[in-house]
Amino acid sequence: MIAAAGSGQRLGAGGPKALVELAGRPMIAWSLVALAAAETIERIVIAAPPGYEGQIEEAARGAPKPVEVVSGGESRAESVRLAMEVVGSELVAIHDAARPLLTPELIDRIVGRLARSEADGVIVAAPVADTLKRAGEGGSIRGTVDRVGLWSAQTPQVFRANVLRDAQRAARESGDLAAATDEAWLLERAGGMVLLEEAEISNLKVTTAADVAIAEALLARRSTGT
Ligand code: CTP
Ligand code: MG
Repeated sequence: MIAAAGSGQRLGAGGPKALVELAGRPMIAWSLVALAAAETIERIVIAAPPGYEGQIEEAARGAPKPVEVVSGGESRAESVRLAMEVVGSELVAIHDAARPLLTPELIDRIVGRLARSEADGVIVAAPVADTLKRAGEGGSIRGTVDRVGLWSAQTPQVFRANVLRDAQRAARESGDLAAATDEAWLLERAGGMVLLEEAEISNLKVTTAADVAIAEALLARRSTGT
């Protein structure tokens, strides 16, 4: 599943981020190419920005696997929940359209790891590299947070679909689904076990215009094999 229903406010391109052109294609097309090449992916569901479903379908045209487009919701977690309604498989991999450097190897690696384990999910994440500061009054530093054992979560994230649906239902009933910035958190609070898989350094998220330039440089490097 691709979460692509965001409006891209921070990028400020005047339209949804998933449709912004990146190295000659709409951003979402790069994730579709990777999912289409992944051996473990049978079918693709996309949560589209309401009103842009047709343009997302256009961007997905010609994909060699079945694609279904649904309308997304007001928060990322709600978009994923809505798209889960049309997922019929036992395992589901969830990916943000904002991470166009996805590779088929990364997807297949986490799906394979979940299939071989007893866990409820596996997510891609990177150990925190920066020194972390907690801010206090007036922009001063109140303290340094020990980064040992801290990871930043990315996508893709793969789950047992029924366990994820139960966790989404529980969060919705307690009114905090919209606050979930990833699906792993929903499972954590429901007592599930989710494993970390170390990210490839290049699996970056496009948030601002500067990220577009970095992503394009990485895609260009990939195509020349350097
Ligand atoms: N997303 C979604 N539904 C929403 C909000 C976000 O499916 N209601 C998706 C985005 O399309 C994106 C991913 O979640 O692929 C991560 O969100 P983010 O990077 O924050 O994208 P936007 O919300 O589009 O950007 P911004 O926050 O700058 O508006
Ligand atoms: Mg957002």
